[in-house]
Amino acid sequence: MKLSRKILKFANPLTYRRGWRRAQRSIFRIPLQPMLAKIDETRAREIQQRYANSAAGYAKYANIEPWLQLNRERVQDLKLHRSEPKRILDLGCGGGFFLFIAKNLGHSVQGLDIEHIALFTELLELFDIPRVVWRITAFEPLPSLGQKFDWITAFSTNFYLYHPSKERWGTAEWDFFLADLRQHLAPGGKIFFGLNPLYSGDYYTPELRDLFIRRGAHVERERILFENGVRF
Ligand SMILES: C[S@@+](CC[C@H](N)C(=O)[O-])C[C@H]1O[C@@H](n2cnc3c(N)ncnc32)[C@H](O)[C@@H]1O
Repeated sequence: MKLSRKILKFANPLTYRRGWRRAQRSIFRIPLQPMLAKIDETRAREIQQRYANSAAGYAKYANIEPWLQLNRERVQDLKLHRSEPKRILDLGCGGGFFLFIAKNLGHSVQGLDIEHIALFTELLELFDIPRVVWRITAFEPLPSLGQKFDWITAFSTNFYLYHPSKERWGTAEWDFFLADLRQHLAPGGKIFFGLNPLYSGDYYTPELRDLFIRRGAHVERERILFENGVRF
């Protein structure tokens, strides 16, 4: 790459922030080995072998270690390894990789997901992560969760698509959802969404981006962070 292009790339705030996150991760590390040592190895291997030849898209999650590595980065990026114990609700928690790491760092954790993939249920049992079975639906509040949370997170989930049309939620659906999440946040609570790209390759419409910002989020491509709760 030409020097001028390299300089331009580094002048880009997105590149700079990513580089900074990478640097922070390598300074403030989270060793996975002590956490892996707590997992029932025989059971983990049995799950992995059972899904080894499965053609199902989700079977990739049976190979635990790479997913723990990815989720370690998520935990690091939210600085949960450098914070006092927090109450964390993870929406669309899947197999519970993120919450497993958070729990091992002393946080109290709660997952929420649809109960439709047996592998996820098995992984949650393996990691001993509690899950509320619930399908997030447009214009429907979440159930009572019996506590407020310091963090509400959602990574790579697609609860904001209508099924089966795959049409995405509009700003009205999101606004209802954000107002509802606010009810579940403790004072000073934060929300983080790591969004999936849409079929068009982008992450949200300009209108949705404006809504996130109006409600107090910092928006960095797929990363939507409400550092000071949701503003209404
Ligand atoms: C690609 S997986 C990601 C799992 C996990 N967040 C991770 O990053 O490893 C998407 C998850 O979102 C969940 N999900 C999708 N739609 C949902 C909805 N409407 N309500 C709750 N969970 C949903 C799926 O069941 C699945 O566990």
